[in-house]
Amino acid sequence: LPKHVAIIMDGNGRWAQRRGLPRAAGHRAGVEALRRVVAACKDLGIEYLTVFAFSTENWKRPGEEVDALMSLAVEYFNREIDVLRARGVRIRVIGDMSGLPGPVREAATRAAQETAGNSTLNLTIALNYGGRMEICRAARELASAVKSGEMNPEDITEDVFASRLYAPDIPDPDLLIRPSGEMRISNFLLWQCAYTEMWFSSVLWPDFSAEHLKQAVEDFRRRQRRFGGLG
Ligand code: FPP
Repeated sequence: LPKHVAIIMDGNGRWAQRRGLPRAAGHRAGVEALRRVVAACKDLGIEYLTVFAFSTENWKRPGEEVDALMSLAVEYFNREIDVLRARGVRIRVIGDMSGLPGPVREAATRAAQETAGNSTLNLTIALNYGGRMEICRAARELASAVKSGEMNPEDITEDVFASRLYAPDIPDPDLLIRPSGEMRISNFLLWQCAYTEMWFSSVLWPDFSAEHLKQAVEDFRRRQRRFGGLG
């Protein structure tokens, strides 16, 4: 069983378009899919789920769509806290919190605080997240530490570097799922996905079900992971 599943929740816009609905309706349906998948992960016994909800590049979208996504995020955190807390889900956010609107930041912080004691499923939401930015930020912190004499350049090992990423206690994803037919990583968890198995599907995210998750997990179980060795 994969310990950590990461998902790029793609295809909301196309799902809405096909129904003649505004893109925001696709994102709302995407939140429903997220609810289903969180429940399914819990049932399967997956310990970590990380989902890409808003990238540092998504600000390029029309203001109306950005606003809709931010409102959905606030709504999700506020509405789900009780359910997630009761189900033992720990929720947290990775990304540049300082660049998020105040209400999103506050709702995310509260959700994280109120579920901090849970550990059955660790749900991490990437919001205003970019993999390169995360790596840059770690490099900047390490450069400062070297500059101030706290450490030497030789002390910077892979483990030390990884300890400066947003959520160093979370293991690297074992399985990355991307629906909607796109086959790219799109700046998601670049460092962490070095040896992650990828699973693609043409289903659009709002149509993603527990069955699709099970299929991905079944495929994963049949793969042989070698991590550069001979297995
Ligand atoms: C990509 O689909 C999806 C996003 C940019 C947003 C994903 C967000 C959610 C599912 C809701 C937010 C949830 C929380 C909990 C904050 P797209 O719009 O790029 O789809 P397209 O490629 O078909 O246009």
